[in-house]
Amino acid sequence: MHENFSLKPYNTFGVGANAAYFTKVNTVEELKEALHFSNSEALPLLFLGGGSNILLTKDFDGLAIQLNLKGIHEDLINEEEALVTAKAGENWHEFVLFCLEKNLGGLENLSLIPGNVGTSPIQNIGAYGTEIKDIFVNCTVLNLKSLQLEIFNLEQCKFGYRDSIFKQEGKGKYVILEVTFKLTRRNHIIQNEYGAITSELENMGIKNPTIQDVSKAVINIRQSKLPDPKEIGNAGSFFKNPTIPLTQFEELQQKFENIPGYPNNDFVKIPAGWLIEQCGWKGKQIGNVASHKLQALVIINATGNATGKEIFDFSTEIINSVKEKFGIELEREVNII
Ligand code: FAD
Ligand code: EPU
Repeated sequence: MHENFSLKPYNTFGVGANAAYFTKVNTVEELKEALHFSNSEALPLLFLGGGSNILLTKDFDGLAIQLNLKGIHEDLINEEEALVTAKAGENWHEFVLFCLEKNLGGLENLSLIPGNVGTSPIQNIGAYGTEIKDIFVNCTVLNLKSLQLEIFNLEQCKFGYRDSIFKQEGKGKYVILEVTFKLTRRNHIIQNEYGAITSELENMGIKNPTIQDVSKAVINIRQSKLPDPKEIGNAGSFFKNPTIPLTQFEELQQKFENIPGYPNNDFVKIPAGWLIEQCGWKGKQIGNVASHKLQALVIINATGNATGKEIFDFSTEIINSVKEKFGIELEREVNII
């Protein structure tokens, strides 16, 4: 157990905030011991995976627990499909590569997303036309009150766009220990209809892509516009893409004829990056914080010296200006601590 411990290396924004207590757990037993300590001292808890979707706005006056549970195992269910289970502390992208190496399909569009496997259900991570709900079977969690193991299946997780039960009524009640996915062993479903993937595969000169090719295309696209957190502190998209009623979208089209939107029944999803860029934020820096020059939706710790509060205040200014210009209220995707 460490006291007054710096979380700077444990969040991809690279923000300097301290936890009153910090421990890294490698087994469920160690996790239970840590929970026992937090109960006896009445300490609030903060679970950490890769720290790639949190913004620490102040010191954390409780126990931060980094989940380092490791292990992957594969159950072949038939010639077509396999179930693969990974423990919470496995790095997501390494897990994707492990499956691709074994020619298991279903995760390739989710290549290079930072963070750990155990966190992937929290916001139902998604990219390039796929979300984990598409291949998710279940996850095993520890109920923090009863200290019993429970299994949540697909339906119980209530997955939505960047959403799940773990961000809603289950928030703060469970810690995810392992996740099981159903992957294809052959007859893979190649999902390359997302515009950017089609053109990247063309650039790569590939006509009949394999799952490994799709993964490479996704990696190339991501590297071309998303900053690497090892070089520039960030947490990916800072806001969710807002969904507005079709009628509101049509009104906006009268005023902003180029406004992009992806219709879905009576609603339209609008790229927040476009809204933010239109408000003049793309590449703009205030103090230590900036909106990324290649992707306005990504807020960066431009100098490496930003505080969480500075980043939070910057995001509030973006919310205010998008609200003023378009009447749309952006919602933060990043978990504010
Ligand atoms: P952390 O930041 O460590 O934790 C996130 C939240 O989950 C915190 O509230 C934490 O307390 C809680 N938590 C962590 N582990 C557990 C657990 N085992 N049980 C219960 N609660 C837990 N996301 C996407 O969906 N799609 C993308 O394309 C994408 N691109 C990104 C690109 C970049 C460059 C970056 C930096 C981030 C991107 N993200 C993306 C966001 C991020 O990668 C995901 O949200 C990822 O799942 C976060 O994992 P993590 O382990 O780092 O979570
Ligand atoms: N756009 C702009 N200006 C910008 C950025 C984007 O105009 O500065 C517009 C463009 O019209 C572009 C459109 O936004 O065509 C969409 O941009 P992009 O393909 O980069 O995707 P996104 O909607 O900004 C979402 C996810 C990403 C995910 C990608 C790929 C959210 C909040 N973000 O970004 O997820 O990787 O799609 O599927 O849904 C994350 O959650 O952290 C994340 C990076």
